[in-house]
Amino acid sequence: MKSTVVLLTILFLCCTVLTTEASSPVLPKGYTTWKKSDRKVVTDKSSLFYGIHYIYADKKAQSGYLADNRFAEGSRIVVEFFNIKDNPGVDGPKNMIVLMQKDKRQKTTGGWLFAGFGADGKSSGIDPVSTCFSCHQKDASQRDFVISTKKDFPGK
Ligand code: HEC
Repeated sequence: MKSTVVLLTILFLCCTVLTTEASSPVLPKGYTTWKKSDRKVVTDKSSLFYGIHYIYADKKAQSGYLADNRFAEGSRIVVEFFNIKDNPGVDGPKNMIVLMQKDKRQKTTGGWLFAGFGADGKSSGIDPVSTCFSCHQKDASQRDFVISTKKDFPGK
């Protein structure tokens, strides 16, 4: 009897650890080898996107862009942001990374997992519903909530 209780406790602890890990998003390894967008510079200081950024799309996301923004389950898109130095021609230090991953379980955010990370790739623990989705919903509800299009990538 005692050993059953111990076993159940161990099982419970393992499951809790596993599910907690699964729910905190991780930045995909090797995303810098994915298809990379043109360099995008936003010089309007009042914009959230003030700075320089590049969008990376994995194979599935590339097909999604080519299908006029219809993305298959699992598609992943990453954006890296850099500060603007005195000269906008030169990238300053990296300041933020964001991820969208098509995941049908994410019903409150249009079937996408939204996640923010610091420059070091560690999760910034932001709330995806209030911080991310409303803006994407407003600007791209007809484009699967993805604001950029194939025109943002070279070789369009
Ligand atoms: C103020 C509006 C706004 C908010 C808030 C916002 N985004 Fe975006 N996001 C944009 C715009 C505009 C683009 C397109 C940038 C471009 O065209 O280069 C974009 C692009 C992206 C992309 C590339 C795919 C796409 O839709 O073009 C990802 C990934 C992304 N955002 C994730 C996030 C995450 C994660 C958050 C929350 C931390 C977030 N965004 C919050 C406006 C917003």
